[in-house]
Amino acid sequence: MEIRENVTGVERRKLNHGFIRRISVLELVTAKDLKKTYGTGNAAVDALKGVSFSVEKGAFLSVIGPSGSGKTTLLNLIGCLDRPSEGSLSVAGTEVSGLSRRDGARFRGNKIGFIFQSFNLIPVLTVFENVEYPLVMVQEVPASTRSKRIMALLEAVGMADQKKKLPDQLSGGQKQRVAIARALVTHPELVLADEPTANLDRDTAQSIIRLMKTIRNDFQTTFIFSTHDARIIDEAERILRIEDGRLTSNGNNGGIRHD
Ligand SMILES: Nc1ncnc2c1ncn2[C@@H]1O[C@H](COP(=O)(O)OP(=O)(O)O)[C@@H](O)[C@H]1O
Ligand SMILES: [Mg+2]
Repeated sequence: MEIRENVTGVERRKLNHGFIRRISVLELVTAKDLKKTYGTGNAAVDALKGVSFSVEKGAFLSVIGPSGSGKTTLLNLIGCLDRPSEGSLSVAGTEVSGLSRRDGARFRGNKIGFIFQSFNLIPVLTVFENVEYPLVMVQEVPASTRSKRIMALLEAVGMADQKKKLPDQLSGGQKQRVAIARALVTHPELVLADEPTANLDRDTAQSIIRLMKTIRNDFQTTFIFSTHDARIIDEAERILRIEDGRLTSNGNNGGIRHD
């Protein structure tokens, strides 16, 4: 294969692995005819039946659709928690559909932040330590920079004064604020949130989505979140609607009817 002279070591390794594809630099996620089948034979479930779309850098996008439509499956594929059965999926310039479990985990650790429905904070760690955790796990950031970075994020989510508390001393909304800070601490290009407001009351849900949007504005981090909560869909700028494993609408928010 041709090795260009001006490519870096990392790029050359990617070229050697065939990971580089021609994609627009403005596209952070590109899916082509993406399919996911769980199980085999009579027990097979076609959770995604061929979806194609792209997500531009800096997007604030919501994946919507009824329960069982394939939202979690799609987010898990984008987040390299699972692999597609067919089709191609490019995330931040890397074709992730063929990544091994180990390479997928490394890619995820460096490029993607996660926010969960049930917050998933570690109960024995303080707020500060919970946000610090991904840095300890996946990145070698010196302790001095680490602390500054964590405190800046706790400030951004309005939780700096709670840094010594344990998760069970916090409300649901406060926990999700900490989880947002934790998702951002590795400076990921993409944050994925699977129904992040499902366990929150209406006002808190809206404030969490607005906080995510403020962070997108300030840090230019791309956000993809799923929801079937009509009350927060209005906050999304772009919407992908999935029904029964198929994409049924894809566009800017405003022209789309919500049910
Ligand atoms: N691990 C799994 N094994 C088998 N079927 C699954 C698995 N995960 C999800 N499914 C099925 O795939 C379909 C899509 O599920 P999911 O992506 O969780 O939808 P949503 O997040 O929109 O509720 C559903 O029919 C669900 O039952
Ligand atoms: Mg789901």
